[in-house]
Amino acid sequence: MPLRHLPAHPGGDPDLARLIKTEKEVEGRYTETWIVVEEDALDQWPEGPQSVVGRPAAKIDGYERARGEARYTADVLLPGMLQTALLRSPHARARLRRIDLKRASQAPGVRAVIGPEVQWLTGEPNYEGEPVAAVAADTFAQARDAVALIDVEWEELEPLLDPEEAVRRGSLIGEARKYARGDFERGLAEADVVVEAEYRTQTLNHNPLETNQAVCEWRGDGLDVYLSTQAIWWARNHLAKAFDLPLDKVRVICEYMGGGFGAKDGEGDHMFIAAELARRTGRPVRCAMTRREENIVAGNRNATIQRVVAAARSDGTLTALGGEYWCSLGWEGWLPSTSGPLQLLYDCANVRTTEYPAKLNLPPMAAFRAPGFVEGAWSLECLLDRLAAQLDLDPLELRRRNYANSDTVDGRPYSSKNLMECYRRAEPHWNKRHEVRARSDETWKRGVGMASQIWYGAGGPPSYAWVRLGSDGRVNVVTAMQDIGTGTRTAMAQIAAEELGLPLDRIEVQVGDSARGPYASVSGGSSTLASMGPAVRAAAADAARQLIEIAAQRYDREERLLSLQGGQVVSADGGSWPIEEITGILEDGQILGKGGRGPNPAGMRVLTFGVQVAEVAVDIETGEVVVERIYAVHDVGRIINPLGARSQVEGGIIQALGHTFSEVRLDDPHSGTVLTRTLDAYKLPTIADVPEIECEFVDVPDAHLTNLGSKGLGEPPIIPTAAAIGNAIRDATGAEVTSLPITREEILRALKEAQERERERGAVPA
Ligand code: MOS
Repeated sequence: MPLRHLPAHPGGDPDLARLIKTEKEVEGRYTETWIVVEEDALDQWPEGPQSVVGRPAAKIDGYERARGEARYTADVLLPGMLQTALLRSPHARARLRRIDLKRASQAPGVRAVIGPEVQWLTGEPNYEGEPVAAVAADTFAQARDAVALIDVEWEELEPLLDPEEAVRRGSLIGEARKYARGDFERGLAEADVVVEAEYRTQTLNHNPLETNQAVCEWRGDGLDVYLSTQAIWWARNHLAKAFDLPLDKVRVICEYMGGGFGAKDGEGDHMFIAAELARRTGRPVRCAMTRREENIVAGNRNATIQRVVAAARSDGTLTALGGEYWCSLGWEGWLPSTSGPLQLLYDCANVRTTEYPAKLNLPPMAAFRAPGFVEGAWSLECLLDRLAAQLDLDPLELRRRNYANSDTVDGRPYSSKNLMECYRRAEPHWNKRHEVRARSDETWKRGVGMASQIWYGAGGPPSYAWVRLGSDGRVNVVTAMQDIGTGTRTAMAQIAAEELGLPLDRIEVQVGDSARGPYASVSGGSSTLASMGPAVRAAAADAARQLIEIAAQRYDREERLLSLQGGQVVSADGGSWPIEEITGILEDGQILGKGGRGPNPAGMRVLTFGVQVAEVAVDIETGEVVVERIYAVHDVGRIINPLGARSQVEGGIIQALGHTFSEVRLDDPHSGTVLTRTLDAYKLPTIADVPEIECEFVDVPDAHLTNLGSKGLGEPPIIPTAAAIGNAIRDATGAEVTSLPITREEILRALKEAQERERERGAVPA
């Protein structure tokens, strides 16, 4: 193992902080913020696996989770805790004529009832499931029974459910978003081939295994909140504001969580309602969504209608790309970048997009794993294959010919981009298509399709970590982030172990408590590892530097000759001492390191890239599709834990399979109420749906991105899958599917359309 030089603290005062303005990005939304950064002066580790980083590590809390010992919010049981049930609007749009809470208040076990006059509750709901009244009782059954006793009379109103109608009427959340570069019309005029199509995507629910839930307890003048959340610190801020408390009077705890996928970025009314009921009763109060509530009001990936155009010269050079996007956001929410892939993926001079944020009487959308880009990649990458067919050009070659070498929007250089390498690695899988097609028979047609991935994932400051090194030579990493379930704890432990030259089993990681650690990143926007990893490394390096100073004095060596490896302090001129021998002399003394996340590279665009290739078999008689194999290669900089990373890719692809084939929230087209309320009706993929998945990483550190060179991987794998499958279906059968989910009806419709196209072509003599 090579000696690793720990750089001395860079020039001047080690505590010197810098105030700078930096660009902050979450889910593609950029803002400028002031941050104070400490020097981020550590050299990146060399490319490739190190002692611990870059080597597969099983989850350090895997056994705890598997044995049921890990305490999720769903497991929190406090003495005297009350349970909540909500009266939610049964109508998509209605007005209360009358509400009487009296019978409910007198029901057995009931401790508090609140109605529409209270904030977070309403008498004029604008979507099904909007909370109207809430009951806290000794048991959930009592609370639910009391809700049934609320005397209520509704005046039903006509709901607005159609996104195009909403746009016509001007029912929007904010304004339509327009983007243009170059001259779109001229680009169309210059083209030899123009293709256009309409694509649609469905409303999807996140359905994390642990539903959204909170337990709130007032202690003195402060509020403790156990919350299943992707963003401990956002919840703290929002609660402090709502209850007019100093920020740190609110403590948010999320030790373990059962997934989120974006549904738990925001907190939902249930958290505030639990806090309010706890305030009124003086008791801890739980408010947990049932699976049915989760399927209605926990947020969703909004449905879209996308009309897209692509134009190219006969050599494949794109001359114009355009899109109009109708996004059914529901009653609240924000407009994700559905046009993002079309704007960012290819080098095209003339681009024009319009996105409409339709405000409807439907439950509010929420971020969902690469919001916008999943939908936008579906239309763009399917359209590109149609264009390739028209041009009689290999789809992979078409993508290479329009490769972007700098940011397509403002010309900034990429901090790193290895998409061409992804294409190179995907090529052998892509080239198998002739052989795959040859395995077709009368009924089952086989084919191969590919699609590219682009997304954010830079992470950013502020994010902090502390590292505590004790006399036993063991390390505690302390930071108040949440582990959404991806293995963030494990990755942080690996980074600290690497920096301190210790084996992984000497590292503990404390997360999940805003009162027990410094500010940490949200677990969203593929930002946790990219934000927190560099902070943990900086904190570990701070502790390592102190350890080396102490060792240098103790053993009378020069600091610059000492390094940490294999649990030892090693001197380049001979001699090595176990770390615990040095920390041991401190007895109860501790070495305390702290670190912060450095800024992202100024003037550069940090993005993630990838390619997926799908092999499918289609039964042209029944429309059944079997995905037989998916190859995925992603470029997200340095991989910290190849095992965890692989698991992310598999998870993203499996979730994408649900989005491609089976998952859809169905709404009653007249009443606007949700029909798919349970996991019987809302069909998540199961292991029976999972194909062979082969996954690779480019695994080259981004030289410009902090002390790690790692980008986020949470969202990228779900982005290209549906389009790769759609293109494979086209390759196999000629059927051009346009709507997600790809049902058998959709396949049969597209097959029929393809046959008619063929017949027309055949009818015209060549
Ligand atoms: Mo994300 S969709 O910010 O969890």
